[in-house]
Amino acid sequence: MIEVHDLSKSYGPRLAVDGISFSVPRGQVLGFLGPNGAGKSTTMRILTGYLSASSGTATIAGYDVFSNPVEVRRRIGYLPENNPLYNEMRVSGYLHFCCRLRGVPPRRRQDRVDYALEACGLQERRREIVGRLSKGLRQRVGLAQAVVHDPDLLILDEPTAGLDPAQTRETRDLIVALGKAHTVILSSHILPEVSATCERVVIINRGSLVADDRPENLARRMAEGRGIDVEMTVRGDAEAVRRKVALVKGLDTIEVTALPSGECQVRVHGSREDPREDLARAIVRAGFGLRELHSRTLSLEDVFISLTTEEPQPWPE
Ligand SMILES: Nc1ncnc2c1ncn2[C@@H]1O[C@H](COP(=O)(O)OP(=O)(O)OP(=O)(O)O)[C@@H](O)[C@H]1O
Ligand SMILES: [Mg+2]
Repeated sequence: MIEVHDLSKSYGPRLAVDGISFSVPRGQVLGFLGPNGAGKSTTMRILTGYLSASSGTATIAGYDVFSNPVEVRRRIGYLPENNPLYNEMRVSGYLHFCCRLRGVPPRRRQDRVDYALEACGLQERRREIVGRLSKGLRQRVGLAQAVVHDPDLLILDEPTAGLDPAQTRETRDLIVALGKAHTVILSSHILPEVSATCERVVIINRGSLVADDRPENLARRMAEGRGIDVEMTVRGDAEAVRRKVALVKGLDTIEVTALPSGECQVRVHGSREDPREDLARAIVRAGFGLRELHSRTLSLEDVFISLTTEEPQPWPE
């Protein structure tokens, strides 16, 4: 559906997008993740044909975004970062107007407007003035205008920015529902949002692509070679527990803290084999009570922080 190859964009001397390449198959929901200023909106504006690139190529449904912008725009629904709307229009009037702009034939317009109102939960608001709606409802109107002409591809730039937690969840559910019928690219710097809605995540930092994978794979691949952290709660004397734990092979660090309850908290880091079973056996055989044992896995947030704050490292294939 989307093929981006070696795309770059400079604003004067500032390189905002630096040679990124990725492709998105039809039907996928892709999260575009990166810190402020990473180049997310710039890339999205290029894909929608609102901004020219400095170099590289991008095609949507086989059409080049630079030489065929009309064909491309017909296939795209775009929710820009600041969601510009016509505040003085009524919701359904605005959506009819968008149909006209997007070249929807007159006899299909009512059906499309009804679909968009229904999909975005706006039926009861159809007669209201856009400018008087709450921010969350305006965001829904923004999504409705993005889907009203039945595009193959939705490009949503921070669709939940500024929404309260309940509205964020509703909008997220709406995007997941829209994702069943459309290819979607959404940008965000909110990690739980991306893990909840996207099958695949592209992380960009300072204009460069630093990761491209499924959310769960990102965390797993990041964890590889970094060893494993295990935490246990054990009933027994801290010093005696420490001596037993120290006999387990392959541990780099062992921290034992006595708790007021007479239990102790044990934290270990193992760099090679997974030490969990050996730890459990050692504790139980020594006659201590093993109350809890779990490994700490890297979250997508750990991956994001690591990829966007450390020196950029090549992503392992
Ligand atoms: N019109 C412009 N003129 C000059 N520089 C710009 C312009 N638009 C964006 N930039 C710069 O390009 C870089 C990338 O900006 P972009 O808006 O693409 O980032 P972003 O990833 O969308 O960030 P955010 O999370 O803050 O929305 C930034 O350094 C920004 O200052
Ligand atoms: Mg942006």
